Amino acid sequence: MVTRFWVAARHPRPTIDRLSQAVGYVGFGGYVPPTELTNSDLEGIVDTNDEWILRRTGIKTRHILAEGETILDMAACAAKGALEDAGIDPAQVDDIRVGVNTWMRFPSLATQLQERIGAPRAAAADVSAGCAGFVYAVEQAYHRILIEKARYGRDTIALVVGVDGLSHITDWTDRQTCVLLGDGAGAVVLRHVPKGGILATHTHADGRYGDVLWSDSVLAGQANGSPKTFTHEAKGPRAYLHMDGKKVFAVAVETMVSDVLRVIEKHREATGERIGIEDIDYLYPHQANLRILEMVGKRLGVPLEKVYTEGVVRYGNTSTASIPLGYWDNRKTKGEGRLEVDVAFGAGFASGAILRRT
Ligand code: UT7
Repeated sequence: MVTRFWVAARHPRPTIDRLSQAVGYVGFGGYVPPTELTNSDLEGIVDTNDEWILRRTGIKTRHILAEGETILDMAACAAKGALEDAGIDPAQVDDIRVGVNTWMRFPSLATQLQERIGAPRAAAADVSAGCAGFVYAVEQAYHRILIEKARYGRDTIALVVGVDGLSHITDWTDRQTCVLLGDGAGAVVLRHVPKGGILATHTHADGRYGDVLWSDSVLAGQANGSPKTFTHEAKGPRAYLHMDGKKVFAVAVETMVSDVLRVIEKHREATGERIGIEDIDYLYPHQANLRILEMVGKRLGVPLEKVYTEGVVRYGNTSTASIPLGYWDNRKTKGEGRLEVDVAFGAGFASGAILRRT
C-alpha cells in the first residue's frame, strides 16, 4: 500500500490542470537570401510582365538562393535569430522540428541544423506537409511540450523552423509557377509561458488532391514502382514543382476559411470560451497569392488591415517559411494579449490553423 502511494506520487497521472499550462512563442527569427528577383527581372526569363504578376498575385519581388548558399544556411540564420531573440542558449534546446519540402535527402535537415547551431541534447526531425509544414511542426512541438510536462514534469524548449528553397525545384520555363516562388526561412522558440500562448491547433489533409500540386523526384521511378529503379541510368526527371493553379486557388480559399473556423470551434469545445471573428486581432495566412488572402479575409469577415499580406508582396510564396517570416516582419509591432490565428494550406492538400494569444 505504501509503495503504491509512493509510485503514484512519483508518476502523477496527467490532469487537465497540467495539460492546460500555457505554451507560447518566446523568440522569432527570419532570413531571406540577399539576391532579389523582381518582376522585371522575370520579364527577361519567361513571357510575363510586371502588370500581370501584380494584378494576379500581388507579388513585387522574391529572394532567391545564390550559388553556394543552402537551405541549411537559411534555416541556421533564422534559428539563431529566434534563439537570440528568446535569450536561449542552443544547448538548452530539447526539440527541433523543421517544416521543409525541398531538402529531399537524408539525414534530415533538422539533424543537420542541430549540429550547425550546437544543440547537442535536442531531438530533431523534419515535417513534410507542403506549405502547412510550419503549422504541423508547431502543433507537434506544442503537444510534446504539454506531454513532457504532464507525463514527466519536465519543462521543454522547442525550436520550430519553416524553411524552403523553392528556387531549387522551380521550372524557370513555366511562367505559371516561376513568378510565384521565393526562398526563405522563419523560426520560433516555444516554451511554457506565464499566460496566453497557443489556445488550440487543428491540422487536416486531403490526399485526393495529390496530383494538382506536386513535384517530380530523382526517385520518381521508385515511387511509381518502375523496374529501372535499381539501375545506374535511372536518374529520373529533375524535381520540378507542377501546379494546376486554378484548382489549387479554389480549394485553398475554401480550406483556409474552414480551418480558421474549426480551430476557434476546437477552443470552444475545450474551454467553453466563445471567440467571435470580430475578436481576432490579426490573421497570418500562408502567403500564396494576395488575391487568396483578400478572399479569405472577406469570406471570414476579417478586414484586410488585420491580415498579414506584406510577405507575399516582398518575398513571394516561400512555402513553409511564409508564416514565421510574417512574425519576424511584425516583431517590432507586437502587443500583449492580442488574439491571432495562423492558417496554412499546401500540397497534399495538407492544411492547418493555430489560435494563439500573444
Ligand atoms: O502555396 C501553395 C498554394 N498555391 C497557391 O495557392 C497558388 C494558387 N493559384 C494561383 O495563385 C493562381 O491560379 C495563379 C497565379 C497561379 C494563376 O492565376 P490565374 O488568375 O488563375 O491565371 P490563369 O492560370 O487562369 O491564366 C490566365 C491567363 C492565361 O492566358 P489565356 O489562356 O487567358 O490567354 C495564362 O496563360 O494568364 C496567362 N498567364 C500569364 N500571363 C503572364 C499565366 N501565367 C502568366 C504569367 N504572365 N506569369
